[in-house]
Amino acid sequence: MNQVIRSAKALRGVLRVPSDRSITVRAALIAAIAEGTSRIRAPLDSDDTQAALNCLSALGVNIEPLSSACDTLGLQVRGQGLRGLRAPSTALFCNASGTTMRLMAGLMAGQAFDSVLDGNEQLRRRPMRRVTEPLRHMGAQIEDTDGHAPLRVRAALHPLRGLDYALPIASAQVKSALLLAGLYADSAVIVREPAPTRDHTERLLRAVGVALDVNAEGEATVIKLTPPSEPLRALDVLVPADFSSAAFFIVAACLVPSAELRLVEVGMNPTRTGLLNALRAMGAQIQVENVREEGGEPVGDIVVKGSALRGIEVSGALVPRMIDEFPIFAVAATQAHGVTVVRNAEELRVKESNRLEGFVAELRKLGARIETTPDGFIAEGPTPLSGAVVSALDDHRVAMALAIAALLAHGETTILGADCVRKTYPTFFRDLAQIVEA
Ligand code: S3P
Repeated sequence: MNQVIRSAKALRGVLRVPSDRSITVRAALIAAIAEGTSRIRAPLDSDDTQAALNCLSALGVNIEPLSSACDTLGLQVRGQGLRGLRAPSTALFCNASGTTMRLMAGLMAGQAFDSVLDGNEQLRRRPMRRVTEPLRHMGAQIEDTDGHAPLRVRAALHPLRGLDYALPIASAQVKSALLLAGLYADSAVIVREPAPTRDHTERLLRAVGVALDVNAEGEATVIKLTPPSEPLRALDVLVPADFSSAAFFIVAACLVPSAELRLVEVGMNPTRTGLLNALRAMGAQIQVENVREEGGEPVGDIVVKGSALRGIEVSGALVPRMIDEFPIFAVAATQAHGVTVVRNAEELRVKESNRLEGFVAELRKLGARIETTPDGFIAEGPTPLSGAVVSALDDHRVAMALAIAALLAHGETTILGADCVRKTYPTFFRDLAQIVEA
């Protein structure tokens, strides 16, 4: 599907963007190995979350809609206990979901049956040794295919071994895989991350009764999981709106003159909200109201007004806290006065697309003055953009960031392959149309 976007005169309204992908996938996986029936209220329904649910169904987990007596839409997951999953009869197909594949790798490593994890062509190109290698240190029999999917996991005939592992790159997916494998280990699993990454897995594991110690050591975080001696308790979670989906509209409202937008029930986990720090440092007018805790996660309403931005530098520990927001941050950078520099973000090269070379090339088609560096990009602004034909690169966040850039561009922009937004935000273009005045 191609999508045509015209420049916006104004932007206003109230939106509740779809629920958090990372939390939905994690909640489903953990509910599957808990004891009893878990409730996941307001889960995200998208390609990525469907991939995770399909894998769990193939492992014998019963997942049904919550009964209509409940006040929110949701899922009930009948937990099989730590050792009750069933051997799948075919490969577990993760489609394009890196989160599903890497977390499932950790979960499958401890099972008493063989499994194969596979994905679509795009997922097969993404790096997997970062997860198979430390799992092998735990005694898991897991093989990748030249560092990629498919991954073949042999039945664990003994408990996995404990591990003390310093992550070479800050990755919440790798950390989560090791913590899930740690549920099947004979001693503690210690994961040292170079900078804090999203901690949803830790929060959910605590909620089901797993003992976790988390300590800061300078910029690093050390997480220690003690393998449980009791069954995991069932979960009852309410999934907040996804900050990474809200991010597109936050930046749109900063950049469209006289915009005023309220985004409600957004997950405000500090490991996810680095974009707010960056935008505020650029001079953005963003208020967070009504902050409360729901289902173990901070939630709030974000109010954004249009304002002039100035260039900044983003590097170090801020990078993992906004790792999925760089495409939309790059759009903000093209409109900020002065130079914006991003460093230490080489991970952007191995996301759904190469979000440095690929995305920057698409933005340049709209007239942006932006160049890549080995570990980031440099943008100069403010630059007037003009409509063009651009490609979504089969990357949901590229499609959505280009759509926001197109609101600022003179004339008309056509985004080729825009339906890839289904990965995390199937209703993106409908929601956009609702708040934009053309
Ligand atoms: C995610 C972690 C990040 C992020 C991805 C989702 C997660 O990936 O980019 O979109 O749910 O744990 P990495 O762990 O590769 O940094």
